[in-house]
Amino acid sequence: MTPDPRPQSIAAPATEALLAAVAGNPVAMVNCARTLLLASGQTDRARDICREALALDPGNAEALALARPILSDGIGSWYFTMVLDHRRHALYARALAKLLSNGGVVLDIGAGTGVFAMLAVRAGASHVIACERDPHVARAASEAIARNGFADRITVLPVDSRELQVGRDLAEPADVLLWDNLANNFLGAGCAATLADAAARLVKPGAAVLPGRAELLAAAVTDLEADEHRMGLVDGLDMEAFNLLRGSDFTIARDKFELRSAPAVLFDFDVSGGAPIRPARAQEALTLTAGRVDGIAQWLRFHLGDGLVYDTLDEDVRAFGAQFHVTETFEAAPGTAVRLHGAHDTLDTWFWLER
Ligand SMILES: C[S@@+](CC[C@H](N)C(=O)[O-])C[C@H]1O[C@@H](n2cnc3c(N)ncnc32)[C@H](O)[C@@H]1O
Repeated sequence: MTPDPRPQSIAAPATEALLAAVAGNPVAMVNCARTLLLASGQTDRARDICREALALDPGNAEALALARPILSDGIGSWYFTMVLDHRRHALYARALAKLLSNGGVVLDIGAGTGVFAMLAVRAGASHVIACERDPHVARAASEAIARNGFADRITVLPVDSRELQVGRDLAEPADVLLWDNLANNFLGAGCAATLADAAARLVKPGAAVLPGRAELLAAAVTDLEADEHRMGLVDGLDMEAFNLLRGSDFTIARDKFELRSAPAVLFDFDVSGGAPIRPARAQEALTLTAGRVDGIAQWLRFHLGDGLVYDTLDEDVRAFGAQFHVTETFEAAPGTAVRLHGAHDTLDTWFWLER
């Protein structure tokens, strides 16, 4: 066995002594953050030391090169694509303008980049409490908010929304709940629990909720890159035994699947009135067109009020993708009837076809 080349963690007092010894030397500080803190799982502290080092000498290219992987570790690359979703921003700006025509305090849960909080201020919010549980993302959002001159109207709180306290973090329950801890299947980022908590404690009764409703749509599809996602005959060898081990779902680009049925609405999540999301099952009849069926594609259609609709299958959408759920592969004759089933436990979703 090859020995792990990374340094093993050393005792806390020795770490502190080494950190004190390198204080003021940006490259040495970042190196200590990497080898002493990151290696022993102290990611937050490692990042703080990197920030301190870069602040000491912002032009130090070596310190920056060493710090980048530490600062970006575990930060979703999707922040960089989501922020390009101009369609979504335009729709939210219009929805917010409607909700905030007379001002009001907004609670933004899952503030991420801070873009939604800034859109809310532009739309007329008197104040936004922007809550983001990843402290490093919250820090970058605070910087972006300050750069745009909104620091006096937006308070960024680097905590999970379930830790917020009315009277301490918010003067009183908010008028508008803006939330975005969303996944491609609506539920997977834990919104059911945070929305129930926010409705019970953090917003006024009858507060507007954005988004307030989303339909989950699904259809039987052909995966146009199926050869990369399942094993068949490989150089004359039958490799089907591996197919139960393939990932059960993945995000799929819009041009990488073909619909084999009309889309069906399986779930209609209405969170506008603060009612809790409960586990559910649903089924719909599908009629297939001729061709190979590899699985089920699923996406969302948000209703943002006033007829504003954001469909995540639309071409220029960047914040979401369609999610492909694997089923058995079969050739469908035209007009074949199947039943599409879905189930969720408020966090995970499962989809299957009954033939
Ligand atoms: C989809 S992303 C950010 C969206 C944001 N509207 C934007 O445009 O940048 C969702 C964010 O919610 C955060 N998050 C998830 N659950 C949270 C919670 N309960 N409280 C606070 N932040 C949460 C995640 O860390 C993530 O940054």
